[in-house]
Amino acid sequence: MTVELTTYSADETLAFGRQLGKWLECGDIVALYGDLGSGKTQLTRGICEGLNCHDDVTSPTFTLINEYEGRCPIYHFDVYRIDSDEDLFSLGYEEYFDGNGICIIEWAERIITFLPSTRLDIFLEHQFEAGRETIRSIRVIGRGNFMNGRNWRVLQHGEIA
Ligand SMILES: Nc1ncnc2c1ncn2[C@@H]1O[C@H](COP(=O)(O)OP(=O)(O)OP(=O)(O)O)[C@@H](O)[C@H]1O
Ligand SMILES: [Mg+2]
Repeated sequence: MTVELTTYSADETLAFGRQLGKWLECGDIVALYGDLGSGKTQLTRGICEGLNCHDDVTSPTFTLINEYEGRCPIYHFDVYRIDSDEDLFSLGYEEYFDGNGICIIEWAERIITFLPSTRLDIFLEHQFEAGRETIRSIRVIGRGNFMNGRNWRVLQHGEIA
């Protein structure tokens, strides 16, 4: 099952993230893929809001991981600067992935072989149409058992209040 959408502003990406955040379950892994400025952090902000987290959400560029408190603990990774497997191991990533919090990982492509097979993948892409800088295509794909027992239509049709 794949959900595809286009957002035309940063606010629209925020709103979709909020919807996602309400729909996610504690323990979920959300892997974000996409170039610099594609909107990974912006989407993460929305997800956090949807999880009732009102902390300041910024890319954990130097720390590699930020923790927030929402409906459940949120672990926000940015693995852009990870350049060896040892870096990842020293982060203790397995404990986060196996835990009851929600893990959101920016630049997931860099640690793809270490990601659990059950996860939500989200691909963000710039769409440079008609000279506009604010169009993004977003593709959401459930992997492994992620879709089991979930109502995807809710996400597709924006039925979450
Ligand atoms: N439709 C859109 N969705 C998301 N962000 C948008 C959109 N249109 C414009 N923007 C702007 O694009 C930028 C996206 O930045 P953001 O930090 O979320 O990207 P990122 O993918 O996390 O980048 P990085 O790889 O550097 O961490 C923000 O300045 C945001 O305001
Ligand atoms: Mg970012």
